[in-house]
Amino acid sequence: MKIVMVGTGYVGLVSGVCFSDFGHEVICVDKDPGKIARLHAGEVPIYEPGLEALLAKNVAAGRLSFTTDLAEAVDGAGAVFIAVGTPTRRGDGHADLSYVMAAAEEIGKALTGYAVVVTKSTVPVGTNRKVAEVLRAVSPEAAFDVASNPEFLREGAAIDDFMRPDRVVVGVESERAQKVMAEVYRPLFLREFPVVYTGLESAEMIKYAANAFLATKITFINEIAALCERVGADIKSVAKGIGMDGRIGNKFLHAGPGYGGSCFPKDTKALARIGQEHAVPMQIVETVIKVNDEVKRRMILRIEDLCDGVLRDKVIAVLGVTFKPNTDDMRDAPSLTIVPALVGAGARVRLCDPQGQHEGQALLPGVKWSDNPYQAAQGADLVVLLTEWNEFRALDLQRMARKMAQPKMADLRNIYDRDEVLSAGFSHYVGVGR
Ligand code: UDX
Repeated sequence: MKIVMVGTGYVGLVSGVCFSDFGHEVICVDKDPGKIARLHAGEVPIYEPGLEALLAKNVAAGRLSFTTDLAEAVDGAGAVFIAVGTPTRRGDGHADLSYVMAAAEEIGKALTGYAVVVTKSTVPVGTNRKVAEVLRAVSPEAAFDVASNPEFLREGAAIDDFMRPDRVVVGVESERAQKVMAEVYRPLFLREFPVVYTGLESAEMIKYAANAFLATKITFINEIAALCERVGADIKSVAKGIGMDGRIGNKFLHAGPGYGGSCFPKDTKALARIGQEHAVPMQIVETVIKVNDEVKRRMILRIEDLCDGVLRDKVIAVLGVTFKPNTDDMRDAPSLTIVPALVGAGARVRLCDPQGQHEGQALLPGVKWSDNPYQAAQGADLVVLLTEWNEFRALDLQRMARKMAQPKMADLRNIYDRDEVLSAGFSHYVGVGR
C-alpha cells in the first residue's frame, strides 16, 4: 500500500521508516526543504538508535522517499498519516492544533481516490471529527474516512516499540477504514500483536489516559520517595516490593528528578485543560503536574544540602542533561530547572552528556561543557548524576573521587549503592528516596 506520512518529526519519521520496513511504499512529507534535503542525503535529524540504518535500508530498497510536495505524495495513497506537532499553546495549556488543521486542509485539497486520513499526533478528544469536517469542507466530493491511531513510542526505544508494541490502538467508524488500517499493520497483526479497534473519541482518550496514568505512577513513587527519605526507608526496596504485585506492575516505579520529555508534561497539561473545559476537573492529573514541578525543586534543595547550604562558588559536575538516556531531546528535561537554579545561586557548573550538548548549549547558559565525566569532575565539590546514560552507570568511582576537591555525589537516578560509592573514596552520597 502507498502510505503518506505528513510531518517528519520524531513520530512521523520513526513511523514512516517502520511502515516502509513492513514493505509498504512510504512517502514522508515535510514543509521544511532543509529537512527533506538532509533526509535525501541519508541524514537523520534526530538521535534515535537504529533509525539511520533502517532508513538507509528502506531508501535503498526503493520503498521510502521524502518530499516537500504533499499533493503529489497524496495522489493514489491508501492511508495518509498526520504526524505533525501539537505543542502546548502559550497562555492556556491547550494543545495547539494549528499544524494538524493546516495539514488536514492540504490533504483535503490533494485527495484523489479513497484514502483513510489517520491522525497519529496526540490530539484532544474531538479532533478527528474536526479533521473530517475540514476535509469535507475543502473537498466535498472526496471519498475518505478518518482514523485515530495514537503512538506509544518511547524515545531511545522507538523502533522496538513500533515493531513490538504492547498494543495498536485504532479508532475508526467504518469497516472500509478498518480494513485499510488492518492492511497497514498487517505484519504486526500476523505476528499476533494485539489491536484495539474502537471509536474515534475512545482512541483519542486512550492516548491521554495512558500517558497521564504513567506520569501519575512516576509522580506517586517520587512522592513516596520523599517520605522514605524522612522515615529511613529505601525507595528501591519499596518499589520492588510493591511492583511484584501484578496489579501494580514493576515498570515506571523508578524514583528520580521528575518526568520530562516531549509527551508527559504536554499531555498531562492538555488533559487537565480538556477536563476543565468539560467541567470534569482532572484533579489527580492537576496534582501530578504540580507535584512533578515540586520534585525538581526538591532535587535542588538536596544538592544545596550536600553543599552545606552554600552553592556560591561551588564547582558542580552534572552528568546528563537530556530528559532520559539514548536521546538528544531536552524538552522539559529536569536539567532545565535544576541547572539554571544552581547557576543562579552562584555555583560553577560543568555539564557532560553523550548527546545533549548540541541542544543544551543554547538552553543552558553560563556553564562549561566537558567531554567526559572525569574531566567534569576535576576539582569539583560535587557530582550530580542527572540522566542515567549507560556511560554513567559504570564510572570508575575511585578515579572520580581522586579528581574531585570534595568527593560528594548526588545520585538522582539511584544508579549506585551508598556503600560502593563511599568505599570508593567519596565522603558523601545521597540518592533519591533512600
Ligand atoms: C513516553 C511514553 O512512554 C510513550 O508511550 C509516549 O507515547 C511518549 O511519552 P518518552 O517520553 O520517550 O515516552 O519516555 P519514557 O521512557 O516514558 O520517560 C518519560 C519520563 O519519565 C522521563 O523523564 C523519565 O526519566 C521519567 N521516568 C520514567 C521516571 O522518572 N521514572 C520511571 O520509572 C520511568
